[in-house]
Amino acid sequence: MAAVHVIDHPLILHKLTLMRKADTSTAKFRSLLREISLLMAYEVTRDLPLTTETIQTPMATMEAPVLAPEKKLVIVSIMRAGQGILDGILELIPSARVGHIGLYRDPKTLNVIEYYFKVPHVMEDRDVIVVDPMIATGHTAIAAVDQVKRAAPRSLRFLCLLAAPEGISEFQAAHPDVPLYTAAIDDKLDAHGYILPGLGDAGDRLFGTR
Ligand code: URA
Repeated sequence: MAAVHVIDHPLILHKLTLMRKADTSTAKFRSLLREISLLMAYEVTRDLPLTTETIQTPMATMEAPVLAPEKKLVIVSIMRAGQGILDGILELIPSARVGHIGLYRDPKTLNVIEYYFKVPHVMEDRDVIVVDPMIATGHTAIAAVDQVKRAAPRSLRFLCLLAAPEGISEFQAAHPDVPLYTAAIDDKLDAHGYILPGLGDAGDRLFGTR
C-alpha cells in the first residue's frame, strides 16, 4: 500500500488555519492556497529523478545536479478547485506540463460525472501529480486517477490540501499504488459529503461563487 504523507509543516498548518476561517476573503483564500501549494510541492517532488550537467562556476568546472529533462512533470488539475493548487506549483516548476480533468459530483447521488479530459499526448515517460484541494468521499479522486492511469504515466501521485478518513480509505482501496499527500486529515464527512471541520466548498471559496 502506498503511503499517505501528511505534510504538517508549521507554515502550512498556520496558513491552512487561515484558510479554514469562515471570514477569510476570497482574495486571501486564493493567495493562501497558492502559498501552501508551493510549500507542498517542495515535499511532493522530493524524489524526482535527477541527472547531472557539466557547468562552469566562477571557480571550477563541476557536474551539477539538474532535474532529468526527459522526465517532464505533468500536473493534472481536477477542475475547478485544482486550479488553485496548480497555480502554486507552476510558480515553483514553470516548465511542468499541465493536464485538466473536468469532474463534478452529482449533488443527489454523489456520483462522479466526467465532462472534460485533456493531458499531454505522450504520458509514458512522465511523472504525474494529480491535484485537488479536497478528498472528501474520494470518488472524484478515484475517478480522476482511473482516467490518468489509462494514459499510463511513468509514476503517479495525488496531492490535496485536506482529506477525510473515509475518502482516504476509499482511495487507497481503489488505488493502493498511488501515494497521497495532504496537509491534514480531518474528522469525518457530513451527510452531504462535505469535510468536517473542513473549510467549506473549496471551489466556491477560491472563485467567490457563493
Ligand atoms: N469538496 C469541497 O470543496 N469541500 C468539501 O468539504 C468536500 C468536497
